[in-house]
Parts: sequence; C-alpha cells; structure tokens
Amino acid sequence: MEKNFYWPPKIKELGDIVKEYIDTGNPLSIADDGGIYKELEESFSKLHNRKYGLLVSSGTMALYSAFFALDILPGDEIICTVYSYHATITPALHLGAKIIFCDVEEDTGNIDCTKIEKLITPKTKLIVTNDQWGHPCDKDKILEICKKYSLKYLEDCSHAHFSEYKGKYTGTFGDVACWSLQGNKLLSGGEGGILLTDNQEIYEKAVLLGHNLKRPAKSVRSIKYKPLERTGYGLKLRMHPLAAVIVMHQLKNYCFKWIEKRKKTLNYFEKRLQEETFLNKMPKRNYVTSMGAWYGFKPWANFKELGIDRIDFVKWMKKRGFQIDIPKSDLISNYQLFTNKDFKIGYFENTIENSEFTQAKKYHERIVSLPTFTFEEYKIIDKYIDYIKEYGEKNNVRNNKR
Ligand SMILES: Cc1ncc(COP(=O)(O)O)c(C=O)c1O
Repeated sequence: MEKNFYWPPKIKELGDIVKEYIDTGNPLSIADDGGIYKELEESFSKLHNRKYGLLVSSGTMALYSAFFALDILPGDEIICTVYSYHATITPALHLGAKIIFCDVEEDTGNIDCTKIEKLITPKTKLIVTNDQWGHPCDKDKILEICKKYSLKYLEDCSHAHFSEYKGKYTGTFGDVACWSLQGNKLLSGGEGGILLTDNQEIYEKAVLLGHNLKRPAKSVRSIKYKPLERTGYGLKLRMHPLAAVIVMHQLKNYCFKWIEKRKKTLNYFEKRLQEETFLNKMPKRNYVTSMGAWYGFKPWANFKELGIDRIDFVKWMKKRGFQIDIPKSDLISNYQLFTNKDFKIGYFENTIENSEFTQAKKYHERIVSLPTFTFEEYKIIDKYIDYIKEYGEKNNVRNNKR
C-alpha cells in the first residue's frame, strides 16, 4: 500500500498568500509588536480570552520564555509530567531548575494529580503539564493544588490547540500557557510558538527575554524594566513574519474546520476499532468536551494479556504498507540529558531523583501510533480495520477487550 497519510495538508493558495504579503511591501522583519504579529497575537489571545500574547520562534522557546518569566532560579523545583515531548521541561534546565517528574495516569498518559502533593517541597515553585495527544489533564485538580501550596501553573498546550476542559479551551487555566506552532501541529507556521498570559509582569519578562529594541519600548510599561528597553535580556527569539502570515491564514480559514473533520474521522476510526478489533479507543475523561487538535491517535491494548507481541503486530502491519508505529518518545526521565552528568548545562546539576513511574511505563507499553486521519479517509480506515482484524484472528484474539 502506498503512503496514505500526509500532514500538513496542502493549502493550494498558500504560496499566493505569502507572495501577496511580500509583493504588497509588508516587512520581513518586524522590530516592534505591529503588523502581522499584532494581528495574530491579538486573535489568538482573544480566542482564549487572555490579556497578552507573544509570538516566538518555536514552542520550545515559548516554554523557555515562560520559565524565565516565572522567575525560575537555580535550585527551584518544578513538578513536571514524566510523559510528554522532552521540550515540555528541557528549557528549564538552562535556568538551573531541579526537575521533579510526576507519574501519569495509565489510561490517558496525563499527569496523575493524585501523585503531585507528595512531590511538593518548600522549594517547589511550579507545576508543568502537557495535554497528552489533545486530551486535557485535570485542570481543576491542578489549580486546587496550586492554590493550596501557592504554586504557579504552566500549561504546555502543544498537543491540544483548542481542546476543551469542561467547555473551556486548554491554555486558559495556567499562569502561562504555551503552544508549539511547528509543522506537524494542526495550527502551524512551519516553525513557531506562542505564549499567552493575563499577568503583565510575566508578559513583560517574556518579551524582554527574546525581543530587543522597539518591541520592549512598545510592550513593556513597568518602570522597573525601562533600563532594559534597548537590550532586553539579550536573546532574539522572534517568529519569522512569514511564519506568522501562514499561521494567521490557517487560523482564519482552516484550523477549526480541520478540528471538526479530524473529530468526525477519528471518531469513526475509534468506533470501528473498539467494536471490531483487539485495539481500544483512547480513553476520554468526562471533563473532556473537545479533543481539539487531537495531536496523536494512540489506541491501546493489554498486549501481554492478549498474548500479542506489539512489535510483531506493528511489523506485520508495516509489511503490508500501513503507517503504524510504537510511539518513539520515551519517559522524559530516561533521557541522558537528565541522567548523565557529562551532559550537564553550564554549571547546573542535571541529575534527577529517578523513581519507577510504573504507570507511565504501563501507558507507554500499551499504545500504538496510528495516523491522525482528518479528512474523509474512510476507505483507508476500513482497510486498517480489515487488517487489524485479520492479525487478531490469526492470533485467536477478536474483539475481546480486557
Ligand atoms: C508537548 C510539546 N511541547 C513542546 C514542543 C516543542 O515545540 P517546538 O518543536 O515548536 O519547539 C512540542 C513539539 O512537538 C511538543 O509536542
């Protein structure tokens, strides 16, 4: 079978949109907060009912700006989900933070809120979460803990553009929220990132970290930071204006349509998987009112109990031309960047107090990656179902879920 899933989809007029932006004399470098930056920052903030928005060069740099703006200092402890893309937390290593990983729920892969409190010490400053594959984590519980212990909350929403928790978008709960706008995301400029907050000081510090000259002069009002107007904190993290043009075009014309289409198509895929094969649909908690961008499609099975070898299953499907994989991300705590002193950053410690993270391991062992089909790709989905069924029958497992 030929490769059957491509993302991002082709937007036929995209070249014309970019050309028009250039041909009409719009700037390819914007030093202040104007032009396409203003348009996109205001639109995205307004959609999330947030006061301040800041575009940057990547999701990783949005997170770095957030850690910096939240005043993370050497030795401060940050509680972070152990299962996510590594950049949810790696930027904090550059500020000397001590990372305390928290196990995840074995069904959703999201931070297990019942395990957070016992990780809190007098040095804990912040909780960082990811909304795994688009499924929001339990925002109410996290906010309750933050309130009880006076902690800040940073939401990494890079999997979950416009996912909803009890009817409210992810990214509307934390002190700061960050999104990646990189090429695989449902909303993308190829590369890019954005940060939202309601807190003026957090916004101003984030601006000052990665923007100099005219932007601080426009965006920073605090007298305290006036001396930094020209230099900021010395880095340059601006998004390329053409990336912002592309994001804006997608936001206006495609993002919400794609979300609706992906929902319909993946619901169809999940229903058939659940009813007819040994794979189960992704668990969804009652508080999830939308999976939004639904960044990853990860059905699951108790492979060991079913007597199925996950690697053999994936290989068997791949041999027949299907796009299927074992998720490549490991638990973040296993990466050598955290465990090997040879790779410490500057003079900062990078050793973590590792623990077992049994639930994260269970979660990781039972999922498979299938394409996030979005358009009306039902015929291909039907083929997936036929072959997954065939593999199950070959192994004497039909749809007996356990
Ligand atoms: C959860 C999460 N956080 C952060 C990032 C980093 O974003 P970027 O690649 O735009 O730097 C990603 C990228 O995939 C991600 O999935």
